[in-house]
Order: sequence, then C-alpha cells, then structure tokens
Amino acid sequence: LSEIKVLSDGHFDMLSESYLFTEVRRRTALLTGGETHGLINLSIGDVAYPIPEIAARAMVSATEELADNARFRGYPAETGYDFLKNAVCGYYRRLGFSVDVDEIFIGDGSKTDTACFTDIFERGEVVIPTPTYPVYMDNAVLRGNRVVTVCGSRQNGFLPTPEGLTDTPKMIWICSPNNPAGSAYDYCGLKKWVDFALSSGSVILFDAAYSAFCGEGVPKSVYEIEGASDCAVEFYSLSKAAGFTNLRCSWTVVPKAVKTKNKSVNALWKRRQSARFNGVCYPVQRAAEAVLSDEGRAECKAVIDKYKRNTRVLGDFLKKSGVWHTGGEHSPYVWLECPAGLNSWETFDLLIKKAGVVGTPGCGFGRGGEGYFRLSGFTRPKIMEQAIERLEGLKIFI
Ligand code: MLT
Repeated sequence: LSEIKVLSDGHFDMLSESYLFTEVRRRTALLTGGETHGLINLSIGDVAYPIPEIAARAMVSATEELADNARFRGYPAETGYDFLKNAVCGYYRRLGFSVDVDEIFIGDGSKTDTACFTDIFERGEVVIPTPTYPVYMDNAVLRGNRVVTVCGSRQNGFLPTPEGLTDTPKMIWICSPNNPAGSAYDYCGLKKWVDFALSSGSVILFDAAYSAFCGEGVPKSVYEIEGASDCAVEFYSLSKAAGFTNLRCSWTVVPKAVKTKNKSVNALWKRRQSARFNGVCYPVQRAAEAVLSDEGRAECKAVIDKYKRNTRVLGDFLKKSGVWHTGGEHSPYVWLECPAGLNSWETFDLLIKKAGVVGTPGCGFGRGGEGYFRLSGFTRPKIMEQAIERLEGLKIFI
C-alpha cells in the first residue's frame, strides 16, 4: 500500500479564483456567446506582428544544425549560451555600462522568472506598487510573504514613491514603464527607489519588459541609476520588444554585488536554476541573438513605432473626448478613467456589448485599479482606427 499525502500550507486559498486574463477570456466568451469574430482585442498585451525576419532565418538555420550529424547539440546550458549572453552584454554596453556574462541568465520569458525569483529569498516583506501586473502579487502570496502595497493614483501620476515605508530589508517590485498604468519613472523618480533600497538593505526586482517603448527622459534600465548594480535585479523580455510572446525568451541580470542576508543573490539564483530549469532551446536563443543585431534592432523598432503610433492616436481621441488618461507615451498601454461613472467590469461589459472592443478592467490589477480601464496599443494601425471609430460611436466618451 502506498499513500500520497497532499500537503497544503493554505496559500493557494488566498489567491483570487481565476487569473486576470483567464477571467477576461471567460467573460468575453460569456458576453459574446463564444462568437468572437469581429471583436477588437485590446486586452492582453499580445503582439500583432510576426517575429522579425532575421529571427526566423536564424531559427531555421539553427534547426538545420540540430538535424545535422556533425553539428547537433544536446541540452542547452541552463543559464544560456555565451553567444546570446555576449549579445546581451552588447545591449547594456550601448546603454553605457557593462554587465558581466556571469550576471546574465537566459530564460523562457519574464513571467517565469518574475514568478519564481522571490523563491530564493527567505520569507519576508514584499513591496508592490499597485495597480500591478498580477504575477508579482500572486507569487508573493503563494510563497507566504507579507505584501505591502504602495498605491499609484492620479495624484502621484501612478508612480508611487517609497515614502512611508519602514527601513527594514524588503523585496521591492518596480515595473517601469509600468504595466498596467503605462507610466514611467524618470531618473529622479527611479533614483528615490534605488536610494531607498541601498539605505534599507532591500533588493529591487526591476521588470523592464516594456523598456523598448521608452522615449527620451526615462531610463530603459535600472542600472542607469547610480548604485543600482549593488541592489537591483533586472528582468528583460523579448515578448513585446521583438514579438516573442510565442517563442519565449528573456534574460535576467543578477549582479554579483547584490546580497540577501549576506548571501550572493547571483549564486542563489544559479543554484535554483540548475535545480529547476534546463534552459531555452538553441534555435530560440539564436533568434534572440539575431534580434539584438543592428538589423534585428531596426526591424523591432519599426514594429514598436507602429504600436506607439496606436497609443498616440488613442490618447489623442481620449484627450479630445475629455477622458482622463495616462500612459501610451513610453508604453504600449493607455490607462483611462472609466467613462460615465461606470466601474471597471461595467466598462468592460459595455465596450464588448456595444462596441465589440475588449479591454482590461483596472480592478483586475489590484488596489487603486477600480474605476480605471486599460487599452493596449498591440494591434495594427487600421484596427486601432476602427476601434476608435467604434468608441466614438458609443458616445459615452464624449
Ligand atoms: C499584459 O497584458 O498585462 C501582459 O501581456 C501579460 C504578460 O506579459 O504576461
């Protein structure tokens, strides 16, 4: 007789019943009776253009290598191939500073690494600026950490500061440009967080998933702030930057100087990855290397410019309509006040039923999100124009 015991420490019970974007899909199906043809999806930030041609070519030739007796490869190194890590070093060199190859960990998308990174810390306090990407919150709760939120609001431009936090060591999530509010810290704003982390012995977990959308005046990387390489880990994703939402490739920079309870965070993450991860496949890492080349970056930029044009025209429409909104300038997301006194889910329902436009209700991003709504620029310009026409026809925005 053998027995399998299921042990639960109860943390799963503390999660909301369904993940935000699963709920968005469920409600969309409910409202449309499953007839999604003709809907315009400006909800989950999924890309609307194919991967760059140079990436596709790199994958084809890497796959041919794998099929060749003399050139095939087995398991990838769990922290990534040096050719890609060197290309990542080049990315940081172009920003004006150096990162060591051993400080780079190639992953299969930032969702995985942001979800798992706090596993290597002792349980403690996790600071989460809200409204927030739900993954930080869900996983802080699953791990049994104590969550302290600092709330973004219209008053602080959805860019909360560390003011009022106690000076004990913490794990601090910062996502800039921000998901969902689309706001981005300038150098001074980000420096406040870095200074706070240094003085309190905290570690910043900086999600740079949207940094490809940064324009002038906002840092693309936390390491542009002095002192950050002593206290910050950075997550970078190729999902939005290069259309890799399906391919899955990202990197995490863990500087050797960053410590938790006097232990090297780099060494802990390396140990954790070797216990739980077998690396990203060779063709995908070759594709990632290709998008970091001059030609690859130019291809990616042309697509990002299209998304940015979308958020610009959307922002212009909202401005003309007198709707309070933020984001869109350094981000693919526009964050707006719900119209006509509706709450977030009511706005969601109305937009689907009357305009066939799917967005994301702000309340799904936690504290401070109710009463707001997120629309994404990840679509083709023609579709964005149609979406705006439909919203205009709805009259509630005027
Ligand atoms: C979003 O829409 O918030 C993102 O696409 C979700 C993600 O990156 O996992």
